[in-house]
Amino acid sequence: MKLAVNIDHVATLREARGEIEPDPVIAAGICELAGAEGIVCHLREDRRHINDRDVRLLREVVKTKLDLEMAATDEMVKIACEILPDLVTLVPENRKELTTEGGLNISAMKLRLTDAIDELKSKEILVSLFIDPEPEILDLALEVGADIIEFHTGKYANSIDEKSQLNELTKIGTVSRMAAEMGLIVTAGHGLNYFNIQPFLNIPEIREVSIGHAIISRAVFTGLQRAVEDMTKIISKF
Ligand code: PXP
Repeated sequence: MKLAVNIDHVATLREARGEIEPDPVIAAGICELAGAEGIVCHLREDRRHINDRDVRLLREVVKTKLDLEMAATDEMVKIACEILPDLVTLVPENRKELTTEGGLNISAMKLRLTDAIDELKSKEILVSLFIDPEPEILDLALEVGADIIEFHTGKYANSIDEKSQLNELTKIGTVSRMAAEMGLIVTAGHGLNYFNIQPFLNIPEIREVSIGHAIISRAVFTGLQRAVEDMTKIISKF
């Protein structure tokens, strides 16, 4: 399993004062030095953390894999086609949300997704869809042309007791196996941290996890390099 680090919240801290630091571009280099195999950033319509300048510079400095998270809007598809990240992860976006709240509703936006994916693929950008771990969504993901699916692990991470957490884990495991059998590459993310990642690692179909908040939060106390190394140590045990 690989670790991709989401650096949005380095930019959140910068934007808290509207200053020039901390710089997510420098964070990306430190994450890579510490063992991250991908850098993720979410360019939101309201530019509340990552901005256009960050994405441009990240494209220049990231040496592993740049994953641009974005909504499937014309504006964002145009930016991606200019910047050419290695991967685009399409996510639902709601202006008022604090963070991405759920997976894509593919059936409600089939045409838009198909068009966006076609355009991105014409530039040889891989496309991942952020979806809930529900079996019926897999056919739709294939139909619109996804290469990769990222399962939303928020429900797992936010489970209020062990039983519901185990249920979520079992569901993610089952749907991951189904997705891999269908030829989709499976990744996962949202709400994963140094503790709840452990049982999750027993799902071999999950090739990569995307983790942001927990790593950036730990970095405040330990430094970013150590925070990334701590996570790669856990992940590499499996
Ligand atoms: N994957 C996706 C698609 C996301 O939107 C986010 C949150 O920005 C993450 C992973 C990372 O979530 P967290 O910050 O909770 O680790």
